[in-house]
Amino acid sequence: MPQILKEVHADEDVVMPALILHDLGWKMVPEDVQLKAFGPREIDEGLRRVHEVEGARLAGQILAEVGYDEKKADEIVRIIDGHDSRTTAFSLNDMVVKDCDKLTRFCKAGFSIDCERFGIPPDEYADWLDQQIDKWFFTETAKRLASKEVQQRKSESESKFKVARTSHEERGSYGKIRRHNHR
Ligand SMILES: [Fe+2]
Repeated sequence: MPQILKEVHADEDVVMPALILHDLGWKMVPEDVQLKAFGPREIDEGLRRVHEVEGARLAGQILAEVGYDEKKADEIVRIIDGHDSRTTAFSLNDMVVKDCDKLTRFCKAGFSIDCERFGIPPDEYADWLDQQIDKWFFTETAKRLASKEVQQRKSESESKFKVARTSHEERGSYGKIRRHNHR
Protein backbone atom coordinates (compact mmCIF):
# COMPACT_ATOMS: atom_id res chain seq x y z
CA MET A 1 0.00 0.00 0.00
CA PRO A 2 1.39 3.43 -0.85
CA GLN A 3 2.63 5.31 2.24
CA ILE A 4 0.22 8.12 1.41
CA LEU A 5 -2.83 5.85 2.00
CA LYS A 6 -1.70 5.34 5.59
CA GLU A 7 -2.11 9.05 6.26
CA VAL A 8 -4.79 10.18 3.81
CA HIS A 9 -8.03 8.26 4.23
CA ALA A 10 -9.02 7.74 0.63
CA ASP A 11 -10.92 4.68 -0.66
CA GLU A 12 -8.35 1.97 -1.26
CA ASP A 13 -10.79 0.10 -3.53
CA VAL A 14 -10.75 3.06 -5.90
CA VAL A 15 -7.18 4.27 -5.50
CA MET A 16 -5.38 0.92 -5.89
CA PRO A 17 -7.12 -0.25 -9.12
CA ALA A 18 -6.75 3.27 -10.56
CA LEU A 19 -3.00 3.20 -9.83
CA ILE A 20 -2.58 -0.27 -11.30
CA LEU A 21 -4.55 0.53 -14.47
CA HIS A 22 -3.88 4.25 -15.03
CA ASP A 23 -1.09 3.95 -17.61
CA LEU A 24 -2.56 1.10 -19.68
CA GLY A 25 -3.22 3.60 -22.46
CA TRP A 26 0.50 3.78 -23.30
CA LYS A 27 -0.06 0.46 -25.02
CA MET A 28 -1.87 2.43 -27.74
CA VAL A 29 0.91 5.03 -28.22
CA PRO A 30 3.94 4.03 -30.34
CA GLU A 31 6.95 3.55 -28.08
CA ASP A 32 9.21 5.83 -30.13
CA VAL A 33 6.97 8.87 -29.51
CA GLN A 34 5.99 8.21 -25.89
CA LEU A 35 8.75 10.42 -24.46
CA LYS A 36 7.19 13.44 -26.22
CA ALA A 37 4.14 13.12 -23.98
CA PHE A 38 5.63 13.90 -20.55
CA GLY A 39 8.69 15.03 -18.69
CA PRO A 40 10.82 18.16 -18.52
CA ARG A 41 11.09 18.58 -22.30
CA GLU A 42 8.39 20.01 -24.54
CA ILE A 43 5.16 18.06 -24.10
CA ASP A 44 2.86 16.85 -26.89
CA GLU A 45 -0.54 17.38 -25.25
CA GLY A 46 -2.30 15.32 -27.94
CA LEU A 47 -0.25 12.21 -27.16
CA ARG A 48 -0.75 12.72 -23.46
CA ARG A 49 -4.52 12.78 -23.98
CA VAL A 50 -4.38 9.61 -26.08
CA HIS A 51 -2.81 7.63 -23.22
CA GLU A 52 -5.46 8.93 -20.80
CA VAL A 53 -8.47 8.35 -23.04
CA GLU A 54 -7.30 4.90 -24.16
CA GLY A 55 -6.32 4.00 -20.59
CA ALA A 56 -9.79 4.94 -19.35
CA ARG A 57 -11.41 2.87 -22.10
CA LEU A 58 -9.27 -0.23 -21.42
CA ALA A 59 -9.66 0.08 -17.65
CA GLY A 60 -13.45 0.35 -18.05
CA GLN A 61 -13.48 -2.85 -20.10
CA ILE A 62 -11.36 -4.75 -17.59
CA LEU A 63 -13.38 -3.60 -14.57
CA ALA A 64 -16.62 -4.55 -16.30
CA GLU A 65 -15.22 -7.98 -17.25
CA VAL A 66 -14.28 -8.76 -13.66
CA GLY A 67 -17.63 -7.45 -12.38
CA TYR A 68 -16.14 -4.63 -10.29
CA ASP A 69 -18.52 -2.46 -8.25
CA GLU A 70 -20.05 -0.13 -10.86
CA LYS A 71 -19.93 3.07 -8.84
CA LYS A 72 -16.28 2.53 -7.92
CA ALA A 73 -15.46 1.51 -11.51
CA ASP A 74 -17.01 4.75 -12.81
CA GLU A 75 -14.85 6.80 -10.49
CA ILE A 76 -11.72 4.82 -11.42
CA VAL A 77 -12.38 5.42 -15.13
CA ARG A 78 -12.98 9.13 -14.52
CA ILE A 79 -9.76 9.40 -12.52
CA ILE A 80 -7.75 7.65 -15.24
CA ASP A 81 -9.27 9.84 -17.95
CA GLY A 82 -7.65 12.96 -16.48
CA HIS A 83 -4.86 11.56 -14.34
CA ASP A 84 -2.14 13.52 -16.12
CA SER A 85 -3.59 16.50 -17.98
CA ARG A 86 -6.35 17.58 -15.57
CA THR A 87 -4.82 20.01 -13.08
CA THR A 88 -7.78 19.92 -10.69
CA ALA A 89 -9.04 16.97 -8.61
CA PHE A 90 -12.73 16.08 -8.25
CA SER A 91 -12.38 13.83 -5.16
CA LEU A 92 -9.98 12.80 -2.43
CA ASN A 93 -9.40 9.52 -4.33
CA ASP A 94 -8.49 11.52 -7.44
CA MET A 95 -6.03 13.64 -5.42
CA VAL A 96 -4.32 10.57 -3.99
CA VAL A 97 -3.96 8.87 -7.39
CA LYS A 98 -2.51 12.03 -8.93
CA ASP A 99 -0.11 12.43 -6.01
CA CYS A 100 1.03 8.78 -6.08
CA ASP A 101 1.55 8.93 -9.84
CA LYS A 102 3.79 11.98 -9.57
CA LEU A 103 5.60 10.62 -6.49
CA THR A 104 6.98 7.72 -8.55
CA ARG A 105 9.20 10.23 -10.34
CA PHE A 106 10.83 11.16 -7.03
CA CYS A 107 11.72 7.66 -5.80
CA LYS A 108 15.19 6.30 -6.49
CA ALA A 109 14.16 3.87 -9.25
CA GLY A 110 11.77 6.25 -11.06
CA PHE A 111 14.27 9.08 -10.82
CA SER A 112 17.15 7.14 -12.38
CA ILE A 113 14.92 5.78 -15.17
CA ASP A 114 13.81 9.33 -16.02
CA CYS A 115 17.36 10.74 -15.94
CA GLU A 116 18.42 8.07 -18.38
CA ARG A 117 15.48 8.26 -20.78
CA PHE A 118 15.41 12.07 -20.85
CA GLY A 119 19.22 12.27 -20.94
CA ILE A 120 19.28 14.77 -18.07
CA PRO A 121 22.02 14.96 -15.40
CA PRO A 122 20.64 13.90 -11.98
CA ASP A 123 21.40 17.24 -10.30
CA GLU A 124 19.48 19.16 -12.98
CA TYR A 125 16.53 16.77 -12.90
CA ALA A 126 16.38 16.91 -9.09
CA ASP A 127 16.27 20.73 -9.23
CA TRP A 128 13.47 20.59 -11.83
CA LEU A 129 11.44 18.13 -9.75
CA ASP A 130 11.93 20.27 -6.66
CA GLN A 131 10.35 23.20 -8.52
CA GLN A 132 7.26 21.13 -9.43
CA ILE A 133 6.30 20.12 -5.87
CA ASP A 134 3.91 22.99 -5.05
CA LYS A 135 2.42 22.89 -8.56
CA TRP A 136 1.89 19.10 -8.77
CA PHE A 137 0.81 17.84 -5.36
CA PHE A 138 -2.57 18.13 -3.67
CA THR A 139 -1.98 16.57 -0.24
CA GLU A 140 0.45 17.80 2.40
CA THR A 141 1.60 14.19 2.86
CA ALA A 142 2.69 13.95 -0.78
CA LYS A 143 4.45 17.32 -0.61
CA ARG A 144 6.36 16.18 2.46
CA LEU A 145 7.29 12.82 0.90
CA ALA A 146 8.34 14.46 -2.39
CA SER A 147 10.53 17.03 -0.59
CA LYS A 148 12.20 14.30 1.45
CA GLU A 149 12.82 12.15 -1.64
CA VAL A 150 14.17 14.99 -3.76
CA GLN A 151 16.63 15.97 -1.03
CA GLN A 152 17.85 12.36 -1.00
CA ARG A 153 18.24 12.38 -4.81
CA LYS A 154 20.21 15.64 -4.56
CA SER A 155 22.57 14.28 -1.91
CA GLU A 156 23.04 11.04 -3.91
CA SER A 157 23.98 12.98 -7.02
CA GLU A 158 26.36 15.17 -4.98
CA SER A 159 28.12 12.15 -3.49
CA LYS A 160 28.38 10.52 -6.95
CA PHE A 161 29.91 13.76 -8.22
CA LYS A 162 32.41 13.72 -5.33
CA VAL A 163 33.37 10.10 -6.06
CA ALA A 164 33.80 10.89 -9.78
CA ARG A 165 35.90 13.98 -8.97
CA THR A 166 38.05 12.11 -6.43
CA SER A 167 38.77 9.23 -8.80
CA HIS A 168 39.54 11.73 -11.58
CA GLU A 169 42.02 13.52 -9.26
CA GLU A 170 43.57 10.22 -8.19
CA ARG A 171 44.00 9.18 -11.82
CA GLY A 172 45.58 12.58 -12.45
CA SER A 173 48.18 12.22 -9.68
CA TYR A 174 48.81 8.59 -10.65
CA GLY A 175 49.51 9.80 -14.17
CA LYS A 176 51.95 12.38 -12.84
CA ILE A 177 53.77 9.71 -10.80
CA ARG A 178 54.01 7.46 -13.84
CA ARG A 179 55.27 10.29 -16.02
CA HIS A 180 57.83 11.17 -13.30
CA ASN A 181 59.07 7.56 -13.11
CA HIS A 182 59.50 7.38 -16.87
CA ARG A 183 61.95 10.23 -16.96
FE1 LIG B 1 0.10 8.45 -17.17
